[in-house]
Amino acid sequence: MSIMNLRPEYLKEGAEEAERQRAAIERLKTRRETDENCTQTYFIQTMGCQMNARDSEKLKGILETIGCREVPENEADLVIYNTCCVRENAESRVYGRLGYLKSLKKRNPRLKIALCGCMMQEKTVIEKLQKSYPEVDLVFGTYNLYRFPELMEAMLDSDRPIFDLWQEQKEIVEDLPSVRKYPFKASVNIMYGCDNFCTYCIVPYVRGRERSREPENILAEVRALAESGVKEIQLLGQNVNSYGKGLENPITFAELLEQVANIDGIERVRFMSSHPKDLSDELIEVMGRVPKICPHFHLPLQSGSSRLLKKMNRRYDQERFLSLVHKFKAAVPEIALTTDIIVGFPGETREDFEETLKVVKEARFDSAFTFIYSPRVGTPAALMEQVPEEESKVNFEELLKVIEDIAYENHQQWVGREVEVLAEDVSKNDEHLLTGRTPQNILVHFPAGKRWIGETAKVRIKEASAFYMLGEMVGNQGE
Ligand code: SAH
Ligand code: SF4
Ligand code: F3S
Repeated sequence: MSIMNLRPEYLKEGAEEAERQRAAIERLKTRRETDENCTQTYFIQTMGCQMNARDSEKLKGILETIGCREVPENEADLVIYNTCCVRENAESRVYGRLGYLKSLKKRNPRLKIALCGCMMQEKTVIEKLQKSYPEVDLVFGTYNLYRFPELMEAMLDSDRPIFDLWQEQKEIVEDLPSVRKYPFKASVNIMYGCDNFCTYCIVPYVRGRERSREPENILAEVRALAESGVKEIQLLGQNVNSYGKGLENPITFAELLEQVANIDGIERVRFMSSHPKDLSDELIEVMGRVPKICPHFHLPLQSGSSRLLKKMNRRYDQERFLSLVHKFKAAVPEIALTTDIIVGFPGETREDFEETLKVVKEARFDSAFTFIYSPRVGTPAALMEQVPEEESKVNFEELLKVIEDIAYENHQQWVGREVEVLAEDVSKNDEHLLTGRTPQNILVHFPAGKRWIGETAKVRIKEASAFYMLGEMVGNQGE
């Protein structure tokens, strides 16, 4: 774990605000050192996507700078849940966990409970928390996360819950501390929010309008990361393909990607997520040409039925999606395609579902995140006629099976071949194995010592399943 402060001189936007937060961090540090009843330990539970994961790294950076230590949930003085609301079960989990936290509070009177993230941007959630969950001490949202130091002070000074919720982003505040999980790979936000309003999706309502970060700031952050030893960068946005729109000097995502890949020390560049409607030939060309850009593309399909895609407001049809798939396969050698699919969108018939199966079989995805449609209050699709859940479940199981079979077949092509694996961690199931990823983002387990963590090893694949591969290091690469 490494704390890093990024303060290039030209980070002007939000500089004053960042200064205020840094002053609050200093005050909190003194307070923690001089008062043993002040928060000494913390636990953060992160739900949802990479955006939240990155936000949690920022919260950790602040807490570590104050001098708080990360501990298991039942020992912490401060528990933070960084929430997701993209599907209903993510929300139910939070309410369930609050009951457990309430019981912990009885044992540790110093315990403070904070909630943040996407779910807090929903009005109905806030009403429910205010009415029925008095044990919650602090609530903030996605637009004011950087105010956490001041909010933490307010929480410690008050015996009543603090709610600080904004309806929009005022400014992008950049230069606050942050803790990265791995010293060798890091995620970097390139844009916030989403303007696409797919009819099922709540993200545009809880993450606000699309805003791109200035390329200079992104490149400065990546350069600083590279200097500190980071080899793999993942660029993050809800729809990276529309990066750069609205900037004073517009720049395309493909241009940014190439500039990031050109930074010394960076070996691999990845990104998430891409909307098919904005995918340019320029991006496909750059991916085929620049070796450091990993040959992996996450291209969310959602549905294979052009009729449903229209109702989803996705702004592409089956034909356009498949033509993108074929362009990729022709232009980028050994590309791995992955996707997201929703089953049971309002009005989905068996014929619509079969169109999805057809695209899955033709695109031959390496893996897919599949979801049963979950109605979200405030989105247009929640008001459309819903399909019976039983029917969706049957289709869902069938889809999983088809995806698994294809992933299995795809992965067999690697057996006997040598691949480059960036080792990330000791395997969860076997301490003699390390786990890492190929450029295609396929998980590989192989026997090796811990000193290989963070290094790129040449591994020969021995066996492959639908979800991971097993291999052995090749030749003499050292101990
Ligand atoms: N911006 C990203 C997706 C963010 S949400 C993109 O467009 O790729 C991640 C995935 O959750 C979506 O791709 C979609 O498949 C799924 N999802 C979003 N809203 C949903 C809902 N209401 N019910 C079920 N799945 C949903
Ligand atoms: Fe949601 Fe669509 Fe935006 Fe993705 S592109 S975050 S699915 S509205
Ligand atoms: Fe969830 Fe928010 Fe991400 S709703 S999927 S955590 S943007």
